[in-house]
Amino acid sequence: MGVVNMDLGLILERFNHIFGHDNVQVIASCPGRINLIGEHIDYNGGHVLPMAIDYRIYLALGENGSHFHHLFSDMDGNIKSISIDEDAPPKDWASFVLGAMDVLGTKGHTGGLDFLYLTNIPIGTGLSSSAAISVVTLEALVALFDMHCTKEEIAFYAQRIEHEKIGVLCGIMDQFAVCISREGMTLLIDTLSNQYKHIPLDLKGAGLGIIDSGITRRLTDSSYNTKRMECEEIKVTLDTKGIIDRNTPLARLSNAQYERSVSILKESLGKRLRHIYTEEKRVMEFCDALSKGDVYAAGRLLNLSHKSLSVDYEVSTKELDFIVERAIESHHVFGARLIGAGFGGSVLILYRDGRWEDISSRILREYHEYFDKEAKAYSIKSGYGSCVEFKA
Ligand code: GLA
Repeated sequence: MGVVNMDLGLILERFNHIFGHDNVQVIASCPGRINLIGEHIDYNGGHVLPMAIDYRIYLALGENGSHFHHLFSDMDGNIKSISIDEDAPPKDWASFVLGAMDVLGTKGHTGGLDFLYLTNIPIGTGLSSSAAISVVTLEALVALFDMHCTKEEIAFYAQRIEHEKIGVLCGIMDQFAVCISREGMTLLIDTLSNQYKHIPLDLKGAGLGIIDSGITRRLTDSSYNTKRMECEEIKVTLDTKGIIDRNTPLARLSNAQYERSVSILKESLGKRLRHIYTEEKRVMEFCDALSKGDVYAAGRLLNLSHKSLSVDYEVSTKELDFIVERAIESHHVFGARLIGAGFGGSVLILYRDGRWEDISSRILREYHEYFDKEAKAYSIKSGYGSCVEFKA
């Protein structure tokens, strides 16, 4: 796993070594993210509370004077050469890179570029490595071409890459989190208005860790889009019954609307709505717990969120449930839940300071004994949002 705070000299050296020249014009970087609470409600107009983490991706970018783009990443270790008028090969991470040129309108307007990506964000683990690749590429291209974009615009461009080039109809949480977060802060995003607030992360005597189940989500995850379609079905049904207008965000139903809705929806859709409705309330309660420094209350909300994601939203897996169950057996764990889209990926654990080694090593051992598979543990600190680190 590379280094957490990458040394710029080292990046220049690697660039030279890989591409055989030292025309690095821009270096940009972008963090991964965790989401403390507010899962699967960013496409339902809810509030979410992610934060940037201290794992990052770096991109060094420079023109190479040829008709080919060269892409190298320590994720796969090969140089990809793609002609400047070609599209990315299907199901390949190069789609994020060429997608960034497409949405910015720079594709076809430039000669060949050399892209060197170095990252220590674990891939496919629910830490938003894909939002980070899009955003770091956008940041670097915007700087290279002296374009002017706000952080919010970069985040929306990155979301367009997911929607149009990758086929994942994601919300805006990950892109906002990796672009806008500040160190030592969480980011409370109102996904209805796209307004946000930086809230201090003051965890009084507690720390955050991640256990990666090793079950990797695929690049285009149709299960995610299925959840979005179910939400659309809920809205259409409730509209037909005259309970809400089709455009009403599901996370914002009144208590009375919610009660009427669950009584008429078929069971599976009623469960989806119950998750959305209760998760939105948990985000507000979590913010309240954070402001009071009440890690016990915060932990209880994490546990409730996991149960709701597992039973009502049905995005957990037996591996993620196992990790949560084993984690909360310990009286040094305040709470745990799956994070990100689910269907694999990671569990977030809120633990008593100084206990991460004991807790994580026990869970990894029990996981291995039970599933005969390896999980991985990471302790997490807050990081800072995407930025340009160097411009020639
Ligand atoms: C993925 C998506 C986000 C969000 C989460 C679930 O990370 O990219 O927009 O919907 O899943 O909360």
